[in-house]
Amino acid sequence: SKTQLLIKKKILITAGPTYEAIDPVRFIGNHSSGKMGFDIALAAAENGAEVILVSGPSSLSISHPNVRLIRVQTAVEMFDACDSVFDSVDVLVGAAAVADYRPKHVADEKIKKDADSFVIELEKNPDILATLGNKKKEQFIVGFALETTNEIEHAKQKIVKKNLDLIVLNSLKDEGAGFGKPTNKVTFITKNFDIESMPLKTKEAVASDIVNKIIEHYA
Ligand code: C5P
Repeated sequence: SKTQLLIKKKILITAGPTYEAIDPVRFIGNHSSGKMGFDIALAAAENGAEVILVSGPSSLSISHPNVRLIRVQTAVEMFDACDSVFDSVDVLVGAAAVADYRPKHVADEKIKKDADSFVIELEKNPDILATLGNKKKEQFIVGFALETTNEIEHAKQKIVKKNLDLIVLNSLKDEGAGFGKPTNKVTFITKNFDIESMPLKTKEAVASDIVNKIIEHYA
């Protein structure tokens, strides 16, 4: 039923959370399920694209001949996996909820609960989208933004800072949207700051809208 309008296009997609180790059994993570990224991967593959899906820990799986799934744990691993293929791809979609910080030191042994208080020093993770966006050549780059205040303004700043072509803004204020939900309500903002607000849709339908934006770019 799908068109093959993305045939010969190579698409790199990040998905899911990252887990940043504290000690051998503990980590800092987040509630991302990976569903948005996996749905985009499937929609792109069904349109003939060759997809590399780099996912943090997720219970989801994907089975399509056009999709290569690379599973990673940390932001640094996700960055390395993306960086090593970036020059060869046409499109990058950053749908992962990457941890902004990681513990500066990872304990070799499980940390004991002896102390009454305990501080974990954090250091900044690489911004995958910003790093790759700022060295892009012809690539079409799509990012996500989840904001709670001044959403449009912050999303526009993100387009500039990360050198994106399109940003998909999720509002936390919208009922049914976001983490762990099957639906999303998004606003598309292009690099020219054209704004298009979409109604509440399933994540599959949002994925299909995003893939259609990629198709339109090449039309
Ligand atoms: O800066 P912020 O985290 O709000 O930007 C969100 C966008 O940037 C998402 O597309 C996310 O996948 C990407 N991102 C990234 N690497 C990071 C942080 C965010 O690729 N370290």
